Amino acid sequence: MYLPVKPFFITTAIDYTNGAPHIGHAYEKVLTDVIARYRRLKGDEVFYLTGVDQHGQKVQQSAEKAGIAPQEYVDQITAKFRALWTKLGVQYDGWAATTDASHKACVQTLLQRLFDEGQLYKAKQSGYYSVRQEQFLTEKERGPDGEFGPEWGEVILVEEENYWFKLAQHKQWLLDLLDQRPELVVPSFRLAELRNAVAKLEGDLCISRPKSRLTWGIELPFDRDYVTYVWFDALVNYISFAPGYDAAVEADLTEFKKWWPAIHVIGKDIMIPAHGVYWPIMLKAIGFADEEIPQLLVHGWWNISGEKMSKSLGNVVDPDALADKYGAAAVRYYLVSDIVTGKDSDFSEERLIQRYNVDLANGFGNLLNRTLNMTQRYRSGVLQPIAVPDEDVVALRSANAADVPNYIARMDDFQIQAALERVSAIVTRANAFVDTTAPFKLAKDPEAAARLDQVLTALAESVRMAASLLLPIVPEKAQAALDQLLLPAIDLANPQFEITSPHTIGSPQPVFPRIETADA
Ligand code: MSP
Repeated sequence: MYLPVKPFFITTAIDYTNGAPHIGHAYEKVLTDVIARYRRLKGDEVFYLTGVDQHGQKVQQSAEKAGIAPQEYVDQITAKFRALWTKLGVQYDGWAATTDASHKACVQTLLQRLFDEGQLYKAKQSGYYSVRQEQFLTEKERGPDGEFGPEWGEVILVEEENYWFKLAQHKQWLLDLLDQRPELVVPSFRLAELRNAVAKLEGDLCISRPKSRLTWGIELPFDRDYVTYVWFDALVNYISFAPGYDAAVEADLTEFKKWWPAIHVIGKDIMIPAHGVYWPIMLKAIGFADEEIPQLLVHGWWNISGEKMSKSLGNVVDPDALADKYGAAAVRYYLVSDIVTGKDSDFSEERLIQRYNVDLANGFGNLLNRTLNMTQRYRSGVLQPIAVPDEDVVALRSANAADVPNYIARMDDFQIQAALERVSAIVTRANAFVDTTAPFKLAKDPEAAARLDQVLTALAESVRMAASLLLPIVPEKAQAALDQLLLPAIDLANPQFEITSPHTIGSPQPVFPRIETADA
């Protein structure tokens, strides 16, 4: 039985607009899109929020280098992100762009509130500051050699007055919350990491940057000589662009509360401290209850031969070029089938081609094509319901039926790769069924007419099932397969897949043509 339909609010990180989108960005958006589409298919009301993080020092520097105004710079990069999501079939419901006036107003209202309530204070600080990470560094950031590592980029000595958010006073609250609600962090092995980080938390959070150093940000409403720290601005997107949110104290939040809390899909690098420490404490400080603290789905990284992708190493993979070369479906399928959610994986173009050719072209595509072809050739496109199924048809149907709850359980756990193994199992089973039942031989034997009908119907049912389960992953292609079968997708809430009356199918068109390579 299914739980009543529940609004499902899912977000991704908002991407920095200081460079073109890369494969890591694409992975996160596609993973979230797959989850969102799956939930829609299940009948849930879904809101998928994604967008771009347009402020900060890195953007200011990139714009300076390009010799254009920061807004023009971010607008150009933002357009690239949006075009890529369209190309990859990422279907979002809300777009968060942090230079939007409504977002700025929301951040300023919240800052003013925190200031009025005494949760922000001004203090002088001198210390080492990482330009790349846009944060002050403490002794614990020094490596074993006593130096700040290359991940911090240029480190400068800074002495300045800034505004601070009282973070540390919420340390025990956060530790208790993580103990009470371990499900806040998925996968569970990340919880221990976060807990350790919170236990070590000391000091408050500097949430301002003097305009002398950074102008490309949201002004503090109570001190126009400062802009707010980019993370304080960026994290707020999750509420400022949420349906029905209004930062005004007296606002009616009924609509918002219908959706909230969200589940935030983020990479492992931004769990600590931003999403795991700052964000829950910010929410608490602005009045959110414990049960309104959002869950984090923390995914791993795509690397290149075990190395981090980076502009300086010149090994950044461009998803846009990949989609042009192999099609959106091949890229989507690869990105969620060749990685375990939560773990890292190595990106390889050969693997992308291989997975597509093996699973989609030779596996599903071939099954679809031969099922439709045989039905057209031997039965003029008409499938018959099965009155009394033979033993092997019963076995095929029940094995297929058992794969559906398995798929659902894995998708519910965000384990797309494992869910896809169930789809492959259906496809492999059906392809093997063609081999063992040999319909081409049955077609030559008039005595085997009823048997042939059964075999064709059982195959079409298997294709329909696999196509339905592929809908969240390769939506257009899976829909094209269903359109050729002239059958609707199975209902995940009530997975009936049997053909119960004579049914005429459409004509076969290749859905997944093989990717031919020079050495294939
Ligand atoms: N702007 C911040 C997020 C603010 S959220 C309020 C940011 N942006 S980012 O562009 O650097 O990264 C966006 C997302 O892409 C992050 O979740 C990050 O983990 C993810 N990835 C960046 N590189 C990645 C890989 N190589 N592999 C997988 N995901 C990676 O952080």
